[in-house]
Amino acid sequence: MSQHSADPAPHSTVATVTGRRDWWRDAVIYQVYPRSFADGDGDGMGDLAGIRSRLPYLRDLGVDAVWLSPFYASPQADAGYDVADYRAVDPMFGTLLDADALIRDAHTLGLRIIVDLVPNHSSDQYDWFRRALAEGPGSPLRERYHFRAGRGENGELPPNDWESVFGGPAWTRVEDGEWYLHLFAPEQPDFNWEHPAVGDEFRSILRFWLDMGVDGFRIDVAHGLVKAAGLPDLGSHDQLKLLGNDVTPFFDQDGVHAIYRQWRTILDEYSGERVFVAEAWTPTVERTAHYVRPDELHQAFNFQYLTTEWDAGELRTVVDRTLEAMRPVGAPATWVLSNHDVTRHATRFANPPGLGTQIRTAGDRGLGLRRARAATLLMLALPGSAYVYQGEELGLPDVVDLPDEVRQDPAYFRGAGQDGFRDGCRVPIPWTREGTSYGFGTGGSWLPQPDSWAELSVEAQTGVPGSTLELYRAALAVRRAQADLGAGDAVEWLRAPEGVLAFRRGEFVCVANTGSGSVTVPMRGRVLLASGEIAESDGEAKLPADTTLWWTEATG
Ligand code: NOJ
Repeated sequence: MSQHSADPAPHSTVATVTGRRDWWRDAVIYQVYPRSFADGDGDGMGDLAGIRSRLPYLRDLGVDAVWLSPFYASPQADAGYDVADYRAVDPMFGTLLDADALIRDAHTLGLRIIVDLVPNHSSDQYDWFRRALAEGPGSPLRERYHFRAGRGENGELPPNDWESVFGGPAWTRVEDGEWYLHLFAPEQPDFNWEHPAVGDEFRSILRFWLDMGVDGFRIDVAHGLVKAAGLPDLGSHDQLKLLGNDVTPFFDQDGVHAIYRQWRTILDEYSGERVFVAEAWTPTVERTAHYVRPDELHQAFNFQYLTTEWDAGELRTVVDRTLEAMRPVGAPATWVLSNHDVTRHATRFANPPGLGTQIRTAGDRGLGLRRARAATLLMLALPGSAYVYQGEELGLPDVVDLPDEVRQDPAYFRGAGQDGFRDGCRVPIPWTREGTSYGFGTGGSWLPQPDSWAELSVEAQTGVPGSTLELYRAALAVRRAQADLGAGDAVEWLRAPEGVLAFRRGEFVCVANTGSGSVTVPMRGRVLLASGEIAESDGEAKLPADTTLWWTEATG
């Protein structure tokens, strides 16, 4: 059911992105959320043409690769994470020719492109699911999903007690009386990965995009593909608490790893060091490490890091545990502070600790921004690969007061789920001080942008010393050119006052003050960068609260 007929010639190689071996081990990867990055056709919704026009901005920012959230044909029940055709671009985002042009342009600029792959579930409008529904109980097509009879006298109860991540039962009953499983929205039926056709289809989809020239895949719900045999009840636990904190019959089952070992062999047939990154919410970094064993995936998001509060002790623990967990499998650590599913870190850190990742209050904005900037410099000084979510380089906060009628997050409407307030981090990017939607496009924006965003725009911050955008640019330049910060896996902790993290990496030193008062630390060398105002004198540096400082002992 491809919505697009033009078939661009496949790229034979990723010819124009040359570069270092193992580029991904210390890469900075920028997440573009296509709906909200840039709108090329003025319909108020971001698109591939818009992204393409802004690639030079990303090159100048200094990132290595761009990960695009889904832009495939989709009814948009979950903002594109409900895919109706894995080999087509949704008309609202453009065409396959636009995707081809985007990949080529990115490569010419030295940027790699990672696309999202959604293998846990399809859209309920995916051809297989529609046919499975139409054919009725007993149809072999139903075996590609999890269809079951219900429990209770007349099958009126769901087949087991699993709940959807978005709230409510994980099962929906169809007209003929059977139920189907959906760990997310009802419009996202889960595939049955025990069925061979599912694996065949996804191996073919991988090849389709590899032939298009993409440099890798971010795997959505990588921990969810395999369900425990017999789909056993979970019991009377609070399921939301278990998510990400425990192995469940539907998440982090050991069976998923066989799938990734197969996928790895496919990827390795292609030239150009293409990579996989797992979105795997696991209970521990040690379990995350299973996904990045040498014959599986390359990277996995470090959600333990993302969910750590701005606290020196907790941060040091998670950094050490991460590096220790990754060492035996030889995979790089990854670091991430924000993405399209969580409250932006500028707003998380503006609020008291312990509120989780779906926050509805603005908190102390100034404090949040100071901490966000300090947290970024800390993250970018750690060995491994780092992820930057669009707009964090502008210091954008979450928009916490969106009117209900503009919200689109399906979890918001299902109520008691894990997510629900994700629209707040998905508001389109302000590019200019003036104009419709601050330069996002010429036709408004699908979520309203606050008036205060004119001063947060790219235009307002460009060339302004100390702006958050210039801080990111400088940090990425230092990371890349001077100090090789992402390399290796060694962090040498230095003695530091309470509330302060200090570590050395060769001649480079990073000091982060997470405490509430200023601290003075001995400093030998030259300041490279600081997230706030620091004072330097006689071999000492004074850091205010919530400030990170980088210096080098190298001369010259
Ligand atoms: C994780 C994605 O990041 C999120 O946006 C989506 O809702 C779920 N997976 C379901 O696909």
